[in-house]
Amino acid sequence: MTAELIPHPPADAFPDGFLWGTATAAHQVEGGNVNNDHWEMEHAEHSPFAESSGDACDSWHRWPEDLDLVAGAGLNTYRFSLEWSRIEPAEGEFSHAALDHYRRIVDGCRDRGLNPLVTLVHFTMPRWLMHDGGWTGPKTGDRIARYTEFVAGALGDAAYVATINEPNLMATQPVMGAMARRGEPILGLPRPDQGVAEALLALHGRMTDVLRGAGTPPVGMTLIGREHIAEAGGEERMREERAAFEDQFLTAAEDDDWVGLQIYTCARFGPDGLVAVAPEKHTLAHGMERRPEALGAAVRRAAEVLPDVPLMVTENGIATADDADRVRFTDEALRGLSAAIADGANVRGYVHWSLLDNFEWMLGFAPTFGLVSVDRRTFTRTPKPSLNWLGEVARRNGLV
Ligand code: FCB
Repeated sequence: MTAELIPHPPADAFPDGFLWGTATAAHQVEGGNVNNDHWEMEHAEHSPFAESSGDACDSWHRWPEDLDLVAGAGLNTYRFSLEWSRIEPAEGEFSHAALDHYRRIVDGCRDRGLNPLVTLVHFTMPRWLMHDGGWTGPKTGDRIARYTEFVAGALGDAAYVATINEPNLMATQPVMGAMARRGEPILGLPRPDQGVAEALLALHGRMTDVLRGAGTPPVGMTLIGREHIAEAGGEERMREERAAFEDQFLTAAEDDDWVGLQIYTCARFGPDGLVAVAPEKHTLAHGMERRPEALGAAVRRAAEVLPDVPLMVTENGIATADDADRVRFTDEALRGLSAAIADGANVRGYVHWSLLDNFEWMLGFAPTFGLVSVDRRTFTRTPKPSLNWLGEVARRNGLV
């Protein structure tokens, strides 16, 4: 604590020991992930991807610099993911060197006073798995259990471990991919494919058993959340969609050690289902509505469904070229979060998406979610004012 810190109103206070951090995911920042399904899809004929992930942010080599930025800003947590296709490049062939790389990142976090939050699967799978069953294949349960067992030994010093990132978003992806291929705008997330949803939840269960057996730190999964809003006559559709998209996943996390929530926006429903976002409400990416209030609302709802499971905001942010607006957006979102906490939501931390301007999946590098910009040629990192702002919030454990 430094002398210039001023007392802040209790309404903006966060619990003692609150985690403040920022997140990345392997495929979005490492670069050169040529051996996974996304690389293959990025390079396919008629690919729905705007461009290749290429060198991304070269974080495979520059991760110490990334950790320095997080710690230097005053944050205490870093969320990153393991790339399965590097760790098991061919079926049953495990790379100790790749796992050591991630072990060094865990140690690098601890050396800098950062709590490592490690995700085992952040959307990508090895190519060999893509061509032999994918997420729903009959052998995938055993294979993911074996991968999890191999990596578990490197995770002892993590603070939290997440199995799968956003299984509820992944279950909508075949539909989203098809829409993008036809060039139609994505107006909102469609309902998850139930078969994929159940397969992913079963994989989460297999991974959780292995991790608990290995005695790793608290295990959970991270879910995409949103504020569900019923417009006139839309109450029934809203409940139906919320049950498919969110409730079944939250309920599946009932016995988990914690659950991660990743909240960007809201979804509005009328009698015919999802209502398109008015163009003036668009943020710069995804056609999402700019809705900072969604964070508090979605956290409140998760706390209602899962009163006994600790929650963690593992992603929240905005794609914008206007960094001052990123600060305004995040400040408003955090006010809603602190009010939800004051009303009893058991939230252990807030992790902002993202540390870096990175590869935003099908949209390529255009959307900029980062607190730090990255030169696409030299990979030079340049912190934006929002990084320092969030660091100050972390140091105060309260809003500025
Ligand atoms: C989430 C993903 C993350 C990032 C943000 C913008 O759905 O988990 O990788 O792409 O959206």
